[in-house]
Amino acid sequence: MKEMAEYINDIDVSKQAPVAEPNRQYYFIKKASEYVKAASKEAGRPLTFCVTTFGCQMNARDSEKLVGILEQIGYQEEVDEDKADFVIYNTCTVRENANMRVYGRLGQLKAAKKKNPHMMIGLCGCMMQEPHVVEKLKTSYHFVDIIFGTHNIYKFAELIATRFESRRMVIDIWKDTDKIVEDLPSERKFSFKSGVNIMFGCNNFCSYCIVPYVRGRERSRNPKDIIREIERLVADGVVEVMLLGQNVNSYGKNLEEPMSFAQLLQKIEKIEGLERIRFMTSHPKDLSDELIEVMKNSKKICRHLHLPVQSGSTEILKKMNRRYTKEQYLELVHKIREAVPDISLTTDIIVGFPGETEEDFLETMDVVKQVRYDSAFTFIYSKRTGTPAAVMDNQIPDDVVKHRFDRLLKEVQSISAEVCSVHENTMQSVLVESMNDHDERLVTGRMSNNLLVHFPGDASLIGKIVDVYLKECKGFYYIGEMKNIP
Ligand code: SAH
Ligand code: SF4
Ligand code: F3S
Repeated sequence: MKEMAEYINDIDVSKQAPVAEPNRQYYFIKKASEYVKAASKEAGRPLTFCVTTFGCQMNARDSEKLVGILEQIGYQEEVDEDKADFVIYNTCTVRENANMRVYGRLGQLKAAKKKNPHMMIGLCGCMMQEPHVVEKLKTSYHFVDIIFGTHNIYKFAELIATRFESRRMVIDIWKDTDKIVEDLPSERKFSFKSGVNIMFGCNNFCSYCIVPYVRGRERSRNPKDIIREIERLVADGVVEVMLLGQNVNSYGKNLEEPMSFAQLLQKIEKIEGLERIRFMTSHPKDLSDELIEVMKNSKKICRHLHLPVQSGSTEILKKMNRRYTKEQYLELVHKIREAVPDISLTTDIIVGFPGETEEDFLETMDVVKQVRYDSAFTFIYSKRTGTPAAVMDNQIPDDVVKHRFDRLLKEVQSISAEVCSVHENTMQSVLVESMNDHDERLVTGRMSNNLLVHFPGDASLIGKIVDVYLKECKGFYYIGEMKNIP
């Protein structure tokens, strides 16, 4: 990052902006930094920012890129949103409630902006890819400064510079893109682990899901760029990576030289100094035998697989356009467990999809009972305008859905408490992630299977992998004791 900073510092902004990326963005980082310097002189203090992230890991990773750019521009991070000069919401629209939270918080920001003449508000992420959202913002939320989407976050510095120059709302939304811009700044939230995008977008069009509309078509990053990024991260202290994509199992299909996800994993496995590899999300329809084999033989791939089932009813799965049956899913689970017996399985389930009958719901309950997930994210179906499911007949009444949801949650939780406790009195290798939130004598670490354990230790352990004896299961986490002192 230091080299990049020096390079940017030497740019002459009196010249024209270059056309090619990433150099064009380096130019605008320099330009925006001069505006920020001037504004900060006027204010008599450094200017600050606060990025709030909604939604999935994809957004979390995007936010790290936003933070990287903001810091290069000269803003300082402020964790308290009420005090920040630049508030950015990186939004999610996968379910309606994610959407409503953003409007609610925006209302509060209006008052804050009246009091602070330097304040700016930026909105980006998946919600901004929906035209009706941007229309609403234009008419009822004039006080927003910058609006951009998921395809052009790399242009953030350019948009900030434009905002300083125009003093008007800057809106830049692209419908889709085939572009992937490499080598931009990014600031990691954790020093020892990092998300790494391996692909963007989604081509699956599950009938309930808005993601393919707001994240565009599937495109894979070049393996060389991925490896280079991970090597750099490792050199910078990272021991665990989470490979990110909406459907990692279809990685590489659109590359000039096609490559499978399993092949990519094998290359990443060879990176020296990297200790742990995670990935998400796996679509059951594309999970290959080759991948199972690679997982079985890997020393670094974590013993955890997130395998969203969505529904246990073949009929509903068909309407969801998931392209597998209940039996195929169960067979896949069987194959994985046979190859990797200690694997922890987690899933996503939607309750109340249009047309879901009590029988369909019982099929879902049956899958839950058969698979016995370590944990499951359960969602109430949310109608997303523009998706095929939104106009399907037989939308299910709220009270019926709620009743099913409660039954499912109860089942999922009682199974997961049983499943989680089986590791009691074993030794596990644990990556220490943080001090414990509630007790300063304890640290919190993550096992390969994604479960958390709290045990006595201090801040010097953070980022280290240690052996921990699991003394007691407390439902969804453990209390343990460290056995070796690193
Ligand atoms: N690409 C991932 C999922 C991304 S969205 C996959 O295919 O598994 C994360 C989860 O949100 C989904 O797995 C699904 O369970 C849930 N979800 C997506 N759209 C939804 C909707 N309209 N209503 C309720 N839950 C939804
Ligand atoms: Fe949505 Fe399906 Fe794509 Fe996942 S695979 S992001 S659920 S369309
Ligand atoms: Fe939400 Fe976008 Fe992720 S809609 S779940 S933030 S891809």
